[in-house]
Amino acid sequence: MAYTPAMLESIARVEASRPARLSATFPRMTPQERDEVLRRFHPDYIADATRAIRLGSCKGDRTPLELAEVLEAPPQLDPETFTLQDSELKADVLIVGGGGAGAAAALLAVQGGASVLLATKLRFGDANTMMAQGGIQAADQPSDSPVTHYLDVMGGGHFSNDPDLVEALVTDAPSVIQWLEQLGVMFDKHPDGSMNTIHGGGTSRKRMHSARDYSGAEIMRVLRDEVRSHPESIRVLEFSPAVELLTDGQGRVTGAVLLDLETREYKVVSARAVILTTGGGGRLHYQGFPTTNHYGATADGIVLAYRVGGKLAFLHTMQYHPTGVAYPEQIVGQLVTEKVRGLGAQVCNIHGEQFVFPLETRDVEAASFIRECQDRKTGVETPTGQPGVWLDSPMINLIHGPGTIEKELPAMVRQFRGFDIDIVRQPMLVYPTLHYQNGGIRIRPDGSTGVDGLFVAGEAAGGIHGSNRLMGNSLLDITVFGRRAGTAAAAHALEQQPGALTLEHLRAWNRERAELGLTGGRPAPILLPDYTRHIRAVRKEPLVPVG
Ligand code: FUM
Repeated sequence: MAYTPAMLESIARVEASRPARLSATFPRMTPQERDEVLRRFHPDYIADATRAIRLGSCKGDRTPLELAEVLEAPPQLDPETFTLQDSELKADVLIVGGGGAGAAAALLAVQGGASVLLATKLRFGDANTMMAQGGIQAADQPSDSPVTHYLDVMGGGHFSNDPDLVEALVTDAPSVIQWLEQLGVMFDKHPDGSMNTIHGGGTSRKRMHSARDYSGAEIMRVLRDEVRSHPESIRVLEFSPAVELLTDGQGRVTGAVLLDLETREYKVVSARAVILTTGGGGRLHYQGFPTTNHYGATADGIVLAYRVGGKLAFLHTMQYHPTGVAYPEQIVGQLVTEKVRGLGAQVCNIHGEQFVFPLETRDVEAASFIRECQDRKTGVETPTGQPGVWLDSPMINLIHGPGTIEKELPAMVRQFRGFDIDIVRQPMLVYPTLHYQNGGIRIRPDGSTGVDGLFVAGEAAGGIHGSNRLMGNSLLDITVFGRRAGTAAAAHALEQQPGALTLEHLRAWNRERAELGLTGGRPAPILLPDYTRHIRAVRKEPLVPVG
């Protein structure tokens, strides 16, 4: 699927402008320009793409329509008919979710003396962590400091972030890098053994640590191995998503009901503390956007926590990564790492003109791409009508020397080579793609939620990033808050007796729904995306309730 003749003509213009672009710096936007482009072009600002939630602990908060629907949905279990036999499974700490946050939490919970059951929807490691490419931030270089990192995170989040969570994030970061390295993560280094760090959007120092362009896979490889080396204290159950939390009837979370995806049987777990590390909701495809997310990212943890009284934070804002693949069609929406721009690649329109500083924060960068295509009509259109702008990857070898792209971005080179596109010589066509849930369940710095016995870490947690996360702070956040939640949950669990196992909260939930006249609907958590439904939505045909 090499480029079409029309695209090649546009690429010739990108090549022609390259020498001049290499020797000039494109100006950053002023705060006013940033506000304006966000307000006019960022998907979060489209008023009728969100609505107020009609029930629960954050009634009145606005979220995208697709998330509001799953938050208000009927549960999968009927509390009047579901029998909670004596629990088959017991653990001090139940962790729901098998990505980086879950694995980090498991390791620290065990270190705290707890027994752990880690239940995951698909295979252990099938998670957004595994798909993270560019890197992890930590202020561990001589020119940097956690204070500078703190200011960058707050600035990136438009100063709406929870300051205590940001402080925890940046303070733990250097020790987290050391921890990961000691466990075996192979970060990119200079020949003298020092860390090779680069910039990301919105960073004022080079603090992105990476493992080529598969940083998340490398971190997940190591964390998963480490979990597996503790079989006596961590039991891993795959293909076993949680469909409901259990409480003691008085607000304390005491376990969960899992669904065995192979046998379709339910399993009841009794736990003294539960940590949700279920990730985000990219597979809800907000506003019809494609996504970089893994197949199981359906906001399950948010749904479960909300029904037991968890509070939501920043769930009106989603992150659209500026550089999703726009061509070829087979991989539309997949991630092109920000590391490409961190290494110096610029962004150009159909005329080969640079139109934005390449490392504005993600929300601003994405909104600028949308403006270029929708408003200024200077995007490139693919044969399917998908718009895009050029990400001029060949600049990287011109800046850093031959072989840099091949060394730093091997996964990206390989991915495009499969479609006869050589990113060493030709730019990539990109357009924003749904990447991350900026918010989630509101947590405190130890991962607790205000609901007794319930902890949350990773993308399912909210408040850390405010309304916009910076690159590399997600791999950091899953590790920092996974570890903190593991420690706090273990301490909490060891002080508790096992509690009663009830579905009382569902009775209250169902009553509230009935009072509002909400009947029927697709039960949630939905567990897996329903693409036939999605395609109907994209085609704007009426939706038929499923399930
Ligand atoms: O662009 C990227 O590599 C993504 C990183 C992130 O979301 O932190």
